[in-house]
Amino acid sequence: MPTTSTLEAVSPPLKWAGGKHWQLPHIRPLWEQHWGKRLVEPFCGGLAIALGLRPVRALLNDANPHLINFYKQLKRGFTIEIEMVNDEDRYYAARDRFNALLSTGQQNTSEASQLFYYLNRTGYNGLCRFNSKGEFNVPFGRYKTIGYTSRLPTRADSLAHARPGHKGSPRVPSQGEQHRLHKVQQASRSRAVEPSSRYREK
Ligand SMILES: C[S@@+](CC[C@H](N)C(=O)[O-])C[C@H]1O[C@@H](n2cnc3c(N)ncnc32)[C@H](O)[C@@H]1O
Repeated sequence: MPTTSTLEAVSPPLKWAGGKHWQLPHIRPLWEQHWGKRLVEPFCGGLAIALGLRPVRALLNDANPHLINFYKQLKRGFTIEIEMVNDEDRYYAARDRFNALLSTGQQNTSEASQLFYYLNRTGYNGLCRFNSKGEFNVPFGRYKTIGYTSRLPTRADSLAHARPGHKGSPRVPSQGEQHRLHKVQQASRSRAVEPSSRYREK
């Protein structure tokens, strides 16, 4: 049986409420029976499942446009250039700047995604909450230390085959993956023969 064990799980770059990381041990054995197929996640959130399973192809979607903008930037691979410190004044200044970008139609920029990452890591419990005016209003968090990552190229590699909100574009599988894919395809072909023969016309 082919497995995904050669592809290590990648830790999600964002904190995200309701992450299903804890369900991975239950989902992985089910997914392994379909390895090589496209993973479809309509509510991908923090990507705990997609990065845990590392599918060859994925269709990832989420209603949160800031999350999707962050993943689009991440897919390209980007360096966070804004100052990231666990400081209350800095946090509220970044929050004001993020809201200014949203109110001036600049929500899909690299700067917005960098601020989104910083606010996510630094704000209260990694919450993502907006008021009725559409302003991000999560208060400063209460972390003693925060592990910021300013270079995120490896996450881009792991998302290279997954385009959030759109149909995934296939990448070229490695030789090992091609071998496993071939075996999966062979197995599914031989399984497909069995049921149809039962309904063969007499
Ligand atoms: C609990 S989180 C998903 C967690 C994710 N499975 C994980 O393991 O990290 C739920 C996600 O669903 C998204 N969501 C809620 N309603 C949605 C909708 N109607 N269409 C698409 N996404 C939606 C939210 O933005 C949120 O990111």
